[in-house]
Amino acid sequence: MNLRFGGITVLHDVGFEVEPGQIFGLVGPNGAGKTSLFNCISGHYKPSSGSITIDGVEVLGSAPATLARHGLARTFQHPALQLHATVLENVLLGAHGRLPGGPLEWSMRLPRTVRSERALRIEALELLERNGLGWAAKVRADELSHGLHKGVELCRALLMRPKLLLLDEPAAGLPHAEVEQLIETVRRIREDDITVVVVEHHMGLIAALTDRVVVLDHGRTLMEGTAAEAQSDPRVIEAYIGKDAADDAA
Ligand SMILES: Nc1ncnc2c1ncn2[C@@H]1O[C@H](COP(=O)(O)OP(=O)(O)O)[C@@H](O)[C@H]1O
Ligand SMILES: [Mg+2]
Repeated sequence: MNLRFGGITVLHDVGFEVEPGQIFGLVGPNGAGKTSLFNCISGHYKPSSGSITIDGVEVLGSAPATLARHGLARTFQHPALQLHATVLENVLLGAHGRLPGGPLEWSMRLPRTVRSERALRIEALELLERNGLGWAAKVRADELSHGLHKGVELCRALLMRPKLLLLDEPAAGLPHAEVEQLIETVRRIREDDITVVVVEHHMGLIAALTDRVVVLDHGRTLMEGTAAEAQSDPRVIEAYIGKDAADDAA
């Protein structure tokens, strides 16, 4: 896939394939194009050329809401919650697509809408509970720390019951103990048959979780392989910390 803004090419022929049930890592220095690639997959950016398929269905150029119906959910590097809404309300925001009928029916408050909403609320509360945020359900989002916003966003994405979940730097800013918890959480997500693509700088997390990684640098694919192969690849070391360090490691 290629992505250009005006004269600047942000992604040059970047591509990879993720098997169902895998945890796939997307790694690379800041500015490599990882978030832009996620934005292309999730329909927030339109690639200049290329192809994106989910279960064999071409979805390139689809709107985020359409992609959600194809089973795609994501979190953002910088979460943008509804700050004046409660945590529970924020989690429920993503799940409208799971209610039966459409907006007109929803506004009529039919019994089946009310029942489904109640079921979704219970599920949202369970998700918050399972992710250590049950206590915060009625708290306004702007009263929580940035780290907790990421947890709320993860619950919002999971309530969409995705097949494919994109996580953009979920560990950024988390203290060590919480990274361990996050690793356990992502393992559980995989056990629920959700395929995960994760962007992360935390190599401990990448090594603990991923089956494969692709490394991007300046919008190009540097290598694809296992996390261990990436960590010992001189091209990757050079991209992260410069040529001298790569020579020392070789
Ligand atoms: N909307 C945009 N308009 C112009 N340039 C962009 C836009 N979005 C991203 N870029 C550029 O794409 C490059 C990659 O950014 P990004 O995808 O955020 O990298 P990463 O997530 O790997 O740190 C950067 O040089 C950034 O300035
Ligand atoms: Mg990014």
